[in-house]
Amino acid sequence: MNDLTSMVRPESVAVVGATPKPGKIGHTIFNNVINSGYQGKIFPINPKEKEIAGLQAYPAVSEVPEQVDMAVIAVPAARVLDVAEDCGRAGVKSLAVITAGFKEVGSEGLELEKRLVQTCKNYGMRMLGPNVVGLIDTHTPINASFSATFPKKGEIAFLSQSGAMLVAILDWSIAVGLGFSKVVSLGNKADLSEIDFIEEAANDPNTKVILCYIEDIVDGPRFLDVASRAARKKPVIVIKSGTSQAGAQAASSHTGALAGSDLAYDVAFRQCGIIRAKSMTELFDLAVAFAKAPVPKGNRVAIVTNSGGPGIIATDNVEAMGLTMARFEKETIDELRENLPAESNIYNPVDVLGDAKADRYRFALQKVCADPNVDSVVVLMCPVGVTQPIETTEAILEMREAFPDKPIFGAYMGGETLAGGANMLAKAGVPCFTFPEPAIASISGLVHYNEVLRTPEEDSAADLPNIDRKGVKAIFYDVLKDNRLVLLGSETAEIAKCYGIPAAPVALATSPDEAVEEAEKMGFPVVLKVASPKIMHKTDVGGVKIGLQTAEEVRQAYIEIMDNVHGYMPQAVIYGIEVQKMMPKGTELIIGMTRDVQFGPLIAFGLGGIYVNLLKDVSFRLARGLTAREIENMLRETKAYTLLRGYRGEKPRDMAALVDVIRRVAALVNDFPEIAEMDINPVFAYEDGLSALDIKITIS
Ligand code: COA
Repeated sequence: MNDLTSMVRPESVAVVGATPKPGKIGHTIFNNVINSGYQGKIFPINPKEKEIAGLQAYPAVSEVPEQVDMAVIAVPAARVLDVAEDCGRAGVKSLAVITAGFKEVGSEGLELEKRLVQTCKNYGMRMLGPNVVGLIDTHTPINASFSATFPKKGEIAFLSQSGAMLVAILDWSIAVGLGFSKVVSLGNKADLSEIDFIEEAANDPNTKVILCYIEDIVDGPRFLDVASRAARKKPVIVIKSGTSQAGAQAASSHTGALAGSDLAYDVAFRQCGIIRAKSMTELFDLAVAFAKAPVPKGNRVAIVTNSGGPGIIATDNVEAMGLTMARFEKETIDELRENLPAESNIYNPVDVLGDAKADRYRFALQKVCADPNVDSVVVLMCPVGVTQPIETTEAILEMREAFPDKPIFGAYMGGETLAGGANMLAKAGVPCFTFPEPAIASISGLVHYNEVLRTPEEDSAADLPNIDRKGVKAIFYDVLKDNRLVLLGSETAEIAKCYGIPAAPVALATSPDEAVEEAEKMGFPVVLKVASPKIMHKTDVGGVKIGLQTAEEVRQAYIEIMDNVHGYMPQAVIYGIEVQKMMPKGTELIIGMTRDVQFGPLIAFGLGGIYVNLLKDVSFRLARGLTAREIENMLRETKAYTLLRGYRGEKPRDMAALVDVIRRVAALVNDFPEIAEMDINPVFAYEDGLSALDIKITIS
């Protein structure tokens, strides 16, 4: 675990560059530390001053006669290295380097930043920044930043790679009354990054929800480890701008072409239980939802409304977000029927009608909340002459007290007339929106998190017998010795065998006689394919002959393929012809892998064959930590799954074998980082077992 205590709860702070001159950053930071109510010792550092704001100033941190936990540095970039060196010598534990002018300005800045990191390493100091606004912890309390705003105390930790975004949010938070436990500007992330602060916030009893704005992730594997542990403790909600580099890589495999540029982040976040917000609005809607509402037990939503149209919109939204409209118990329906006007809709959405006053809302809400088939409730209100916004809000708050396990959200669809009620609801900690969509999106976030919490932890490495790593290594060695990066079919079939992936038998023949001999060994019918790493689309050059039943057909096919290929591609180096056992037709699938720069291998599964890129029926997961359960989820996301379960009277395919093979492919690409891309297309799935027909592997 990372100990960032010296940053978030320092016992003493030095502000290097503190100055009595108003309008300077060093002045603002120094005043912020003092005005935040910080209880530890504060040391202003400025060679020109004897005293600042009544506190003794020192020319350097090393001149301070006491221990300094954290030094906040706000001097020009050219001086930062000397200051850091001085802090190191003085035994400072951590630095927050506000100064800009490092990596972000080009190669000279990058060089300076590297030297700064090295200095910190030499002295065992941790560093936030450089190029940051600073950090705030409202519970310590400390404001070691130059933000103009010190936020309200709260339970949300906000980590932001953009300083501007951070100060804007802080300013806004005051206007809407939102509180934070801590706020950290991550800047250039030369040492500490979101990973360290996610870890810290996950263990911080004052933090209930962790929010991140990030532009990139530098250490994918560590991020996944830390974030998946954190997400099991408290919700981690991330907004990620920009796209990953996976899309920028030239992809030669199907899988590579299918993986969109931002896909790896999406998959990584989902797999480690992070909730990804699509907009800043959603990020903070979710933050409020998680900070204020309980996590519902399930996905069944009830809607209580005083108007039909918004009720329908909300219902559509519930379904669009993958939630379910709750089906009430008979008793609930009976009670609603007996006590609401005859024109009311007593099924979900419950329409208490336009003339509903607070008592009618209260009655309907009480029945709906008490129904065991309801997990969460959205209350819609449109302002008409008789609407009682305040009294209805009181009724909602009573229900919140009476049913603390069920989230209740408001959507008060109006402006001035409902403002009093809406403010009252929000102040009392019930998320209130102007329209139903964000209310339902927030419930969807809560439901998703409930699924994260309910998923038991599983060991991805558990019992995978019959793995021969040495065998694979030996093949790669031979391929590299041959100065090749693309493997032959006979080699990939051998690799598959080493990892227990059932591949149709393949042998390389270098003469018609040898081809006949191999065909007789494996048994007819067979397929012949030209073996040349340069030829990616063998059929297009007449390089494939299928359904060969006799020795004579094999001999003839061998000669024809050679003639065709020499005709089309006279320069291509041909290693011979592969003889492959012709397998009975099964459901055609693809299993593939493309590598992402941050997160490593991404496994793809979907409908295979020649229409892969057209149909795009593919789902992805990170190979890292891929469990059998996650593979099952992955299969379920595709249309291929419906086929595999037995479509229109067909027998179901061997799902267990499929899950096993995907696990083995994941193990193979995790074990061998030199595998750059891999496609198995098609894999035939049978009632009993599978057969991998065409395995392509490119190494780097
Ligand atoms: N130790 C202690 N104090 C020192 C010092 C040292 N080694 N060297 C200089 N100082 C003092 C200066 O004397 C000055 O105090 P004074 O005003 O009383 O004379 C103070 O530190 C600041 O130095 P100065 O040269 O005036 O710098 P500055 O205030 O103009 O700029 C930064 C310093 C850090 C604000 C500026 O370099 C910077 O990076 N600005 C951008 C910050 C930013 O945007 N960060 C990212 C946000 S997302």
